[in-house]
Amino acid sequence: MRSDCFRRWFFVDVVGSRMSLEGKAKDGSAVVGIVGLGYVGIPLALRFAEIGFRVLGFDVNAGRVSDLNAGKSPIEHISHDKISSMVEQGFEATTDYARIPEVDAIIICVPTPLSKYRDPDLSFVVGTMDAAAPYLRAGQMLSLESTTWPGTTEEVLRPYAEKAGLTIGEDFYLVYSPEREDPGNPDFTTNTIPKVVGGATPACLNAGLALYGEIIDTVVPVTSTGAAEMVKLLENIHRSVNIGLINEMKVVADRMGLDIFEIVDAAKTKPFGFTAYYPGPGIGGHCIPIDPFYLTWKAREYGLHTRFIELAGEINASMPDYVVDKLIKALNERGKSLKNARVLAMGIAYKRDVDDMRESPSVFVMERLRDLGADLGYHDPHVPVFPDMREHDFDLSSVDLTPEILADYDAVILLTDHNAFDYDMIRDHAPLIIDTRGKFRDPAAHIVRA
Ligand SMILES: NC(=O)c1ccc[n+]([C@@H]2O[C@H](COP(=O)([O-])OP(=O)(O)OC[C@H]3O[C@@H](n4cnc5c(N)ncnc54)[C@H](O)[C@@H]3O)[C@@H](O)[C@H]2O)c1
Repeated sequence: MRSDCFRRWFFVDVVGSRMSLEGKAKDGSAVVGIVGLGYVGIPLALRFAEIGFRVLGFDVNAGRVSDLNAGKSPIEHISHDKISSMVEQGFEATTDYARIPEVDAIIICVPTPLSKYRDPDLSFVVGTMDAAAPYLRAGQMLSLESTTWPGTTEEVLRPYAEKAGLTIGEDFYLVYSPEREDPGNPDFTTNTIPKVVGGATPACLNAGLALYGEIIDTVVPVTSTGAAEMVKLLENIHRSVNIGLINEMKVVADRMGLDIFEIVDAAKTKPFGFTAYYPGPGIGGHCIPIDPFYLTWKAREYGLHTRFIELAGEINASMPDYVVDKLIKALNERGKSLKNARVLAMGIAYKRDVDDMRESPSVFVMERLRDLGADLGYHDPHVPVFPDMREHDFDLSSVDLTPEILADYDAVILLTDHNAFDYDMIRDHAPLIIDTRGKFRDPAAHIVRA
């Protein structure tokens, strides 16, 4: 026992500090700690393990930790096989922060949601730092990947390291590097998505570039952690604002009897100066509905109001009501009311071909339909049972999709356009279709654009 402790002390304090993090990154001996084993943390762990790094994962969710150690994937698009081969290569997950000294890099991928007052909720980041702080040691790199307001790394993370007696840029490296994971997108893998890195000092930046450069094809340095934090917000705000614009254009086009999907498809043939965005029933996922408000909140500290960002948020948030209004009018034209109408919501994950329900606009549509007395069902091959959600509660399971079942509903609302749907069958058997995704392009009396 004593000799084990001695060996660990010797490795951590003597061997560990003798070689720089950059050296350990290059020769592959760096041990990588990933904190937060979710949509972002797991792909990152897989990539480090694939290149041959030893990875130690930390999570507060004990069930998730034991599942991962047993080779089980908690995420639909990541196979169990991938997790079990990572475990075979030496990956281990733990809830025990006392193991932080074993790792050379601590990469934080915990959630950064909004509070109920729509202000940034950094409690998961702060919780991580409170738990890890007693175990920080010289020679380590701390990298935050969670999306957050510019200044978080310097204002929130740096004091923890300094209080531990560490000197940033000399014996401890502080980095911010935003995640750009796009779950379910088959065109990119973790290594082919360029990664932005900002360091608190030039030495911190070099440490970050050295480690991430081993696993990512292109690393993009910026001059500070604040710049890297702002890059991520710009990317997501760019999407939110453009989706807000196209949702507004949809409403105008529809009133003029024009199909916005036809218009976007024609506009995108312009080979320069136009990027296609598509309208929908609202915005979902962990990023686009949330991240813009991290900047809005921080900007207030500087006496600035981010009107553009708020306006896009307002338009996007109004889309579920727009869709429900379309359904009400379509039923009305058929002599029916929404109350007691049988309505099938198609696709309840927040985007195509994933099982992620976070902030899904489908759920907001379903809630309004329930409040108005609709008799509601849903179909989603990726979400067989409506999951436990903090703010939403439905005791529903996905219904089968057959011609008979479709014909038994008064209306179908297409909310998320999964590739698995049989669109021909839906068109042929649903009595009324409210299409929020432009999947039914040929006009028909029973198809309503929304
Ligand atoms: N999901 C995406 O596509 C995506 C893309 C880019 C950026 N991001 C950002 O990455 C961050 C993580 O998002 P995610 O989607 O991976 O979240 P997630 O909910 O899938 O995973 C987060 C994990 O962190 C764990 N956790 C929470 N508190 C912890 C703590 N104190 N210590 C250890 N583990 C803890 C949770 O149990 C969970 O397993 C967020 O800031 C998000 O905005 C997400």
